[in-house]
Amino acid sequence: MPLPTLAKRLVRLEEVSSTMDVAKQLAEVGWPEGTLVVARTQTAGRGRFGRYWASPEGGLWFSLILRPKLEPEDFSKLPIVIALAIARALEKHLGLEVGLKWPNDVLVRGKKVCGILIESTLYGREIAYAIVGVGLNANFGLEALPEELRGIATTLREELGRDVDLEELLMAIVREIQDAYLALQEGRGEELLKEAEQLMGFPRGLRLLVGDEVLSGVAIGLASDGSLLLKLPDGQVRQLHWALATVLGAQA
Ligand code: BTN
Repeated sequence: MPLPTLAKRLVRLEEVSSTMDVAKQLAEVGWPEGTLVVARTQTAGRGRFGRYWASPEGGLWFSLILRPKLEPEDFSKLPIVIALAIARALEKHLGLEVGLKWPNDVLVRGKKVCGILIESTLYGREIAYAIVGVGLNANFGLEALPEELRGIATTLREELGRDVDLEELLMAIVREIQDAYLALQEGRGEELLKEAEQLMGFPRGLRLLVGDEVLSGVAIGLASDGSLLLKLPDGQVRQLHWALATVLGAQA
C-alpha cells in the first residue's frame, strides 16, 4: 500500500527529549503538513497540562505537523477527531474494542492505551501549524510504566497477549488520521463528533477539574465545537472546553 500523504516526510529518531519539540522546530522552519516525527524513546515526553508522559522503548511515540485551514469551530473538534481516528485504526487493524474518554484519551477495557496532545501556534489570528502528538502504549508490559499509572493504563501487549508490528500500525493510524482530517475539512465534522459520542458512552456521571474548580455532573454529549455538555445537579448545563477541563473520574 502506498504511504499516506500525511506521512510524506518521515523523520525517524532513536532517543529524543520529545517528538513535539522536534516537530515544532521543523514546522518553524517551514516543513510541510504531513511531516511525521517518530522516536523510539523520549526522555521528556509530555502530556496535556504539562504532565510527564512515560515513553519506554516499544511504544509508538510520534508527532505530526498539520497546517489546518479550518474555521475555529472545526479546529476545536480536532483533538476528538484524532482520537476517533486512532480508535478506528485500533478496531480495524487489531480487532480491539475501543472506547474514548473526553476529550481525547483512547481506552481499552476502560484503561488508557493512548494519549493525544495538540499544540498549535498562531501567526496573528491564523493557525500557522498544529503539532499532533500521539503516544500509544504498545509493545511493553505495565511494569515499564510508573507505578501510579498501572491501575489506570494499559498497553497493547497486555490487551492482545502479543506484540504488534509498529510500522504497520503507524501507517494504519496515519491513514485513519488522514481520512478523518479530510472529512473535517470537507465539513463532515458533526458526523465525526456523533461517532465519537458513541464511543464516549454518554450519559455518564463525571467529576471534572475546570481551572481550580471541581465540578460533578452528568456528561450528556458534545457541543458543536467538541466541548463537553455537563448537566449539573441543579439542572444547569455547562459547556466545558477541552483546553480548560480535565476529567478526574466518575461522579462520586
Ligand atoms: C496526554 O494524554 O496527556 C497526551 C499524551 C501525548 C504523548 C505523546 S508521545 C509523542 C508526543 N511527544 C510528547 O512529548 N507527547 C506526545
